[in-house]
Amino acid sequence: METALAPQPRSAVPDYWNLVPRYSRWSEDQKIPIYKTYYVEDLRTLELGPWEDRECNAAFVVLTGQEGVTESLVTEIPPGATLPPFKFGIDDLVYVLDGRGITTIWAEGQEKKSFEWTARSMFMLPRNYTVQISNTQGSRPARLLHYNYLPTAMSIFPDPMYFFNNKSTQPDMSLLYGQESEFYSTAKFAQHEERWASFWLGNFFPDMMAWDKFRPMEGRGVGASSVSMLFPSCSIRAGLPTMAVGTYKKGHQHGPGVVVVIPGGDGFSVMWRPDPGGEKEKIYIPWHEGSIFVPPNMWWHQHFNVGATPARYLTLHPARNISWFEGRGEERNTDSQIEYVDEDPWIRQKFEEELTKRGVKSLMPEEAYTNRAYEWSKVAPVGDIEHVK
Ligand SMILES: [Fe+2]
Repeated sequence: METALAPQPRSAVPDYWNLVPRYSRWSEDQKIPIYKTYYVEDLRTLELGPWEDRECNAAFVVLTGQEGVTESLVTEIPPGATLPPFKFGIDDLVYVLDGRGITTIWAEGQEKKSFEWTARSMFMLPRNYTVQISNTQGSRPARLLHYNYLPTAMSIFPDPMYFFNNKSTQPDMSLLYGQESEFYSTAKFAQHEERWASFWLGNFFPDMMAWDKFRPMEGRGVGASSVSMLFPSCSIRAGLPTMAVGTYKKGHQHGPGVVVVIPGGDGFSVMWRPDPGGEKEKIYIPWHEGSIFVPPNMWWHQHFNVGATPARYLTLHPARNISWFEGRGEERNTDSQIEYVDEDPWIRQKFEEELTKRGVKSLMPEEAYTNRAYEWSKVAPVGDIEHVK
């Protein structure tokens, strides 16, 4: 006789006790490749599989550091093809890995608006709008990286149908049809009213390799500069830190889900566990255009430019309350960062070894390793900083 204590099949177990998150179960049901790893060296050549539902090729890239917070999805539009219209219930940030195309976006019964993109463009697709994406090249596929909160959203609202082509949800009409009529024009510079922060606000960034509106970030490393990019009515943020030739950033740590994707340059990153002894097993990540990785929750990580040109990396961030490091204000550059004077000597050795292989000279000042109060402005940062002072 069956009793209440008898083991139940997984399908009968309420979600709360189910060890496989809803997003994982949904993504497995899509029957496209799922890559579970620390990093992918080149998303442009990653093998994809046909995704019947969306009429494209695709793969989920489930990087260790995403920790069920954010999604990285690669889609590929065949040469000359137009994908079926698709309505997504959460904001979707898109970075163009390769190719050229047009995105058309609209709300039900309203005027359609289109914009063109090319390799290394970045744009936001706001929730609950209908979107149609076309590859405008007849000779080669176009490949996109999507970044969004779907794993978090599904853990709270576990019905996948809510998020895909849901006819009952409405977009924020002011985004596309309000006074901001140039919604997909180039981003505008903005300054936070109370804090030191400055950023670029918009929905379309034409070329992340050409973008040159930076401000110095002396505290983050020799010759470092960066820019933050925000999107209207959206909690996702992006950043674009740069590194001068022959330099590297300081080691630091923060919360999970921050995707790093490389628009260009030649470098490497290392990451390691924060617990005692963790530094003995550093994970080495070589990178160039198309590479992606995510530092796991509170792991130390550090980025190095070893190429003959300035390097940059695009960071895609979850909401501030998830990546708690970003809410710590004044503590930001103290206990969440390793100063050059305190770092493991292996770091500098590895950097110089990789530079030597490429015939590039280190521009790291000797004083940076001995003087904690080194004057950073001696090394000029990359890019046009005048615009954002
Ligand atoms: Fe980081």
